Amino acid sequence: MGKTFYITTPIYYVNARPHIGHAYTTIACDTIARRHRMLGDDTWFLTGTDEHGQKIERAAQAAGKTPQQFTDEISAQFRALWDRMGLTYDDFIRTTSPRHQHGVQALWRKIRDNGYIYKGTYTGQYCVSDELYVDAEPGAPCPDCGRITETVHEENYYFKLSAFQDQLIRLYTEQPDFIRPETRRNEVLSFVRSGLRDLSISRSTFSWGIPVPDDPKHVVYVWLDALANYITALGYGSRDTAKYDKYWPADVHMIGKEIVRFHCVYWPAFLLAAGLPLPRGITAHGWLLFEESKMSKSRGNIARAETIVDVLGTDALRYFLLREVVFGQDGSFSFDALVQRYNSDLANGLGNLASRTLTMIGRYFKGEVPYPSHAAHSAADDVIANAAKKVIADYGQLFDQYQFSRALEMAWGLVAAVDKYIVENEPWSLGEKQDENSRARLATVLYTSAEALRIVTALAHPVIPDATAKIWAQLGLGDIGKFDLKQLQWGQLRLGTKLGEVQAVFPRTDKSAVVRMQKMEEQNGAAGVAPVEPSEARPMPASAASSSVPAKPAAVIPDGKISIDDFAKVELRVAQVKTAERVKGADKLLRLEVDLGSEVRQLVAGIAEAYAPETLIGRKVVIVANLAPRKLRGLESNGMIVAASPEGGKPVLASFLEDVPLGTRLK
Ligand code: ME8
Ligand code: MG
Repeated sequence: MGKTFYITTPIYYVNARPHIGHAYTTIACDTIARRHRMLGDDTWFLTGTDEHGQKIERAAQAAGKTPQQFTDEISAQFRALWDRMGLTYDDFIRTTSPRHQHGVQALWRKIRDNGYIYKGTYTGQYCVSDELYVDAEPGAPCPDCGRITETVHEENYYFKLSAFQDQLIRLYTEQPDFIRPETRRNEVLSFVRSGLRDLSISRSTFSWGIPVPDDPKHVVYVWLDALANYITALGYGSRDTAKYDKYWPADVHMIGKEIVRFHCVYWPAFLLAAGLPLPRGITAHGWLLFEESKMSKSRGNIARAETIVDVLGTDALRYFLLREVVFGQDGSFSFDALVQRYNSDLANGLGNLASRTLTMIGRYFKGEVPYPSHAAHSAADDVIANAAKKVIADYGQLFDQYQFSRALEMAWGLVAAVDKYIVENEPWSLGEKQDENSRARLATVLYTSAEALRIVTALAHPVIPDATAKIWAQLGLGDIGKFDLKQLQWGQLRLGTKLGEVQAVFPRTDKSAVVRMQKMEEQNGAAGVAPVEPSEARPMPASAASSSVPAKPAAVIPDGKISIDDFAKVELRVAQVKTAERVKGADKLLRLEVDLGSEVRQLVAGIAEAYAPETLIGRKVVIVANLAPRKLRGLESNGMIVAASPEGGKPVLASFLEDVPLGTRLK
């Protein structure tokens, strides 16, 4: 029996469609899983979707769907994309599935029965976008994402996180590989050393979540719910724990760097509290940046994997992400760089090496791997053989430390060396001659080239599975899936092997591919094929929009009237007041947090003389939602509340007699 290997991706929020940021982590894990399978390990690769919580509930509401309907659709989009990209996950967990819910409740009971859960009340700030409790003043931005936090006041359950501070510090110190890379480990260590406070692990003011056992008014905090996926997917808490027994603890949880705290502090603490083994390691990679900021669903600056896969194929995207970005650090994505890499490394690199080598074997040796000859041997052949042996030795080490870009750089160094070798040995000139020496030399050069090609192909298979499977078959070696990577050595290419049909695997492309991909992204963005977070859909404030788009000359309308288009520029929406308080030192101003259904905004309104703050809570109001933000008394105001403003009298808020859903537009 080989050893087992269990690897996981984060489970992705289904608040919006996937982009290449999600593809990045999933591709990295797929690549690692493929390598382990090739090495004979009993491998389990888990991915899935994170479907509960306030953020998802609101996104569903904004899309006019029930949360279940909404999450079904977006979860299916993730899964369909992974399938289309040929990602080899072994299981796809959805947090709305019964198996997960049972597992989470079992975990909760275990932690509770061990004495680590108590009842309390939380009053404080919450960042819905990050689903994170934030220690800050009302109205403060989230320290992680900068969005305005919301004030939450509710009965809940607490987890005794503080009880685990020393154990966690010991874990990070005694097991320095627990968190990789080291920069992330240091961050976590100093966070934990600065002191851990108990953590609220339930919510009671909304219902889209897993009911807390024996107290279903509460739902389990979405991060406890989500993290548990790594064991519930294996059957933890169910009758069939065979997979859990076999694969847990995980070898690696692969994540993006923004969710390190949840994985490296909360998750091990939950497991310790439940008396369960800890994962062997957590690896955090950096962010893919697009147009200079983090590619993200809520910013809307995304590139979709579908576009790249359509134009250049899945291998191109996989290779680019792993070769171009130093794993662990942030890296920029651009269509230009993608096409450049594709041409230089795939079309002109590996693809060209394969086609020229195999074509010449076809032409000069009737498509059978020729016999290298001792007599025709030259030092240049040894240079290639030794370089290949070194690649075999080092590539795996780099790869297993997740230094994908260096591993690939090294393998492609061999591709370049063989190219040079071919150019210098001019097999095409040798092929013109019929004398025995020339034939023997030609055989040696082509054998050496083909053998180096075979080695790069085997090593690169986990990264670019489609093309390498084709090259492998063209080399006459059959199904690459059956190859045992542990056995890889120089000189295994059997003499006389009959080549398969030779075909180009990476056709060259040009700038037009860049333009095509950009167009596809623009069109897709405009058509809004998939639901996006409403903040992305919100029109730009007029001032920002006018800087890039020249204003159309207004049609001439007499009497100071405006056109319907002018009116349509004002985005009036229904919102509900969640929080209201006086602004210190300003008699007229109130600070409000209003819920638009899809998001909560902070507004500063001049209505303090007309309304006592507490009378406004829960009231539905009309706001101008697309007003450019401005600062009043140092507080950012994101929109304006609409009120009748009688001359000399107090303002009267616009409101409705019938009930209207939050976020509804007035027009
Ligand atoms: O955080 N660059 O889900 P999420 C690199 N549901 N990686 C990126 C990326 C980018 N620009 N954008 C996203 C959640 N990712 C939680 C996780 S796990 C128990 C719960 C990848 O949809 C990266 O892996 O916000 C990141 O950590 C993850 O997607 C966040 O996905
Ligand atoms: Mg996120």
